[in-house]
Amino acid sequence: MIQNDNIIDGKSLSQVIKQEISEEVKKIVQSGHRAPHLAAILIGENPASQSYVKSKVRSCEQVGFRSTLIQKEADISEDELLELVDQLNKNEEIDGFIVQLPLPKHIDEMKVTMAIDPEKDVDGFHPVNVGKMSLGLDCFLPATPYGIIQMLDRYGVETSGKQCVIIGRSNIVGTPMSILMSRKMKTGNATVTLTHSRTQNMKEELLRADIIIAAIGYPNFVTADMVKEGAVIIDVGINRVEDAAAKRGYRLVGDVDFEACKNKCSLITPVPGGVGPMTVTSLLLNTLKARKF
Ligand code: GUN
Repeated sequence: MIQNDNIIDGKSLSQVIKQEISEEVKKIVQSGHRAPHLAAILIGENPASQSYVKSKVRSCEQVGFRSTLIQKEADISEDELLELVDQLNKNEEIDGFIVQLPLPKHIDEMKVTMAIDPEKDVDGFHPVNVGKMSLGLDCFLPATPYGIIQMLDRYGVETSGKQCVIIGRSNIVGTPMSILMSRKMKTGNATVTLTHSRTQNMKEELLRADIIIAAIGYPNFVTADMVKEGAVIIDVGINRVEDAAAKRGYRLVGDVDFEACKNKCSLITPVPGGVGPMTVTSLLLNTLKARKF
């Protein structure tokens, strides 16, 4: 990537990768096969979920994928949703699908995740894919960690032997990220510290970090005094904070105080325009993988 400043431009990088995916799709279609097809199940009216799913469907169109959006009311029963998952598992016209999280409280998310055929689980959330990832086997990597690995890789960030401190131990980001950063691979081989709500001396832990990955969902949690000079900062947070001056009445901020930290670090991802677009692109890469023959 062309580098004019110390910003990791996830938006531009995702465009580059989408262009590469488009070329692959053209080859698939030219050889007489159908384009990859992603389906998304969206339950209820959660505004953030609606916005994420819309962006996933739009991205499918941009690269020439087929996409199907299945929207259901928040009062759908668990059995009905499991039946829908089963239909998608059996549908040979669909290569991969996602069930957007979070689900309404009366539905057991793990039960639904476990009902998805691991070969169509392009979110990489099924225990089979999580287990394979932990063992270093071929699998679908969860989209956000996969996107972060690609950012570090394409921006030439040296990770081997570095101190990587992750904030947040979620199943979707923190925990898989800790596995990927420590595995014996290029863009891995780091010494990983996984911090969370019970961590004592968070500031001390962060000040040792060559690479910080913040994924806690708390606006501006990481401040400049917690960052070592020259560190690389990956900000996974997408937090809505009220802003009367903004058109929608809110603006998006990350888990990192961007303005204060950007002068201290060697590289940083902005919010928006950092990790978010890469997450969507990684989902497309997984769907392409699901379509491969
Ligand atoms: N909710 C927040 N992130 C994700 C994601 O990557 N996949 C799904 N299915 N739901 C999410």
